[in-house]
Amino acid sequence: MEIRIFDTPEEAGKAAADIIVETVVADPAAVLGLATGATPLPVYREMIRRYEKGDVTFSKTVTFNLDEYSSLPRKAESSYYTFMWSNLFSRIDIDGDNVHILDGCAPDKAAECARFDGMIDEAGGVDVQLLGIGTNGHIGFNEPADEFTGGTFEVKLSQSTRDSNIKYFADGNMPEYALTMGIGTIMKAKKILLMATGENKAKAIYAAVRGEVTPRCPASVLQNHPDAVFLLDKSAAKLLED
Ligand code: F6R
Repeated sequence: MEIRIFDTPEEAGKAAADIIVETVVADPAAVLGLATGATPLPVYREMIRRYEKGDVTFSKTVTFNLDEYSSLPRKAESSYYTFMWSNLFSRIDIDGDNVHILDGCAPDKAAECARFDGMIDEAGGVDVQLLGIGTNGHIGFNEPADEFTGGTFEVKLSQSTRDSNIKYFADGNMPEYALTMGIGTIMKAKKILLMATGENKAKAIYAAVRGEVTPRCPASVLQNHPDAVFLLDKSAAKLLED
């Protein structure tokens, strides 16, 4: 894996956006894997800026989001569907038909997950997958476990993830389950950009980069990916001194 360290979250976000924009300029129909949460916001701001500047069009770009809460209507304020449309899709020229976000309210969750993996394969696989990381080392919602997961599946969220994300649910009603790309799905992406900012991610980054490859720290699996780039701000990289 390649590690790149930046002074600020904005610079790390700009570097991630540069790679994404270069990919889309080279192939306008590129397939992007996208993440939600606080970390990718600078990436999305820069993608919007580059689109507004006329550097890139996303009109043919295809996207797949990593995850979505189970049983939360798409239009809910805290859904990842709402997050993506508010923070990126409504601000660029993407075609809504090319946007793929898991339906957390699908009556048959297993069928929804299989359909999603099938659509990624049909699209030719993900060219660039953007990831954040949980303080417990999760990627997507692949929580620390005894074994690495495979395809997209429904997961019970860990207490640590619930504690980190409850702030996004004004009524305190946070779903206990989510649908997420599994580690097997994530690892199939041709290029992976993991972005982490802030000191609260430093331990997870140290474990992912320097620790053993173990499902107890799901992000550590990226040590085995042929093209994984970690884009970190100084605080998240704090324990990787040398
Ligand atoms: C989001 C996702 C999660 C987040 C992680 C970090 O789609 O899959 O793995 O990337 O929980 O979240 P933030 O960026 O809010 O610290």
